[in-house]
Amino acid sequence: MNTIHQTPGPDAAASDPSADTLGTSAAQARNAVLEELVLKEPGQFRVLTGDRPTGRLHLGHYFGTLHNRVRLQDLGVELFVIIADYQVLTDRDVADNLTGHVEELVLDHLAIGVDPARSTIFTHSAVPALNQLMLPFLSLVSVAELNRNPTVKDEIAHSRQSAVSGLMFTYPVHQAADILFCKANLVPVGQDQLPHLELTRTIARRFNDRYGNGSAVFPQPDALLSNAPLLLGTDGTKMSKSRGNAITLAADADETARLIKGAKTDSERHITYDPATRPEVSSLLLLAALCLDRTPQQVAADIDSAGAAALKRTVTEAVNEYLAPMRARRTEYAQDRTFLRRTLREGNERARATADATLTEVRAAMNSHY
Ligand code: TRP
Repeated sequence: MNTIHQTPGPDAAASDPSADTLGTSAAQARNAVLEELVLKEPGQFRVLTGDRPTGRLHLGHYFGTLHNRVRLQDLGVELFVIIADYQVLTDRDVADNLTGHVEELVLDHLAIGVDPARSTIFTHSAVPALNQLMLPFLSLVSVAELNRNPTVKDEIAHSRQSAVSGLMFTYPVHQAADILFCKANLVPVGQDQLPHLELTRTIARRFNDRYGNGSAVFPQPDALLSNAPLLLGTDGTKMSKSRGNAITLAADADETARLIKGAKTDSERHITYDPATRPEVSSLLLLAALCLDRTPQQVAADIDSAGAAALKRTVTEAVNEYLAPMRARRTEYAQDRTFLRRTLREGNERARATADATLTEVRAAMNSHY
């Protein structure tokens, strides 16, 4: 359980200085290599990824990252899913309906096929040793480094708080603890999370240099970038929990039909896939294509000049058919609160055991093992 899950081929990263900075293009180049390694040796990988419990997951999440979690699990990769409850407090005073949102996230994961017998779903707040790692980790980064994080800057700009909290400023270090407590070596994320991953790699490297005594306590995890294209919400802007423009996994078939019926399109009857000039129509085509396992161009060709109403009928049918088995499972699990709670309790227990073992090693390395 507590072996070092170092990505195979660490020498390649060590000899290539650009691999350390993990800028977007470096991460993309590394992606193809990682995909191959995962297929060949899934047992070499431990994945950690997760979400903030701020609302229900939607189709943008599903095609962006969730289905990839299940794919990795089913390939035989060990999967940890963190429900980042402390991170909710980065941009708001109080976490609203926390228990409800946490349970929804567990349900969403069970519905899409995350198997609690093989994978670990857990919350930040239930794992003290994970949180304790934040203290030594904070000592390894400078205030200037924290200040430079572009994702944090963007979140501060859009925060609903008038003052920036210390948690907002330092949560990327907390995220490093999320990843390193279980020595994950692969982190499936979107572009916006790359600065956090880079910081995690920096922290792992510095910890090993400072305290490792020649051996690596922590792996330097790789990002696995999602290659799913961006889905727009029903209003034509990015699909998002907070914008009220999302089709959630939990929505039923009728609600889905209603949402898609109200989606923004354009007045051109001839349906074509052209994301640059027809973003709304193209996003609908893409959604249907993802569900039907076809290309957006093929879906467009079938609809041809039948107009937006026909497009919406196609999308509605495709989405509802694709989600039907997941929604059925979701409804089933939603009725079994005992199972839901047990999943989380057991996930938290497993995460605690892993975090305790890592903290013991960290204490030994830091000579604070009394
Ligand atoms: N910051 C991520 C988000 O907002 C959630 C998250 C917390 C996470 N800890 C993580 C993602 C560790 C990947 C790995 O979506």
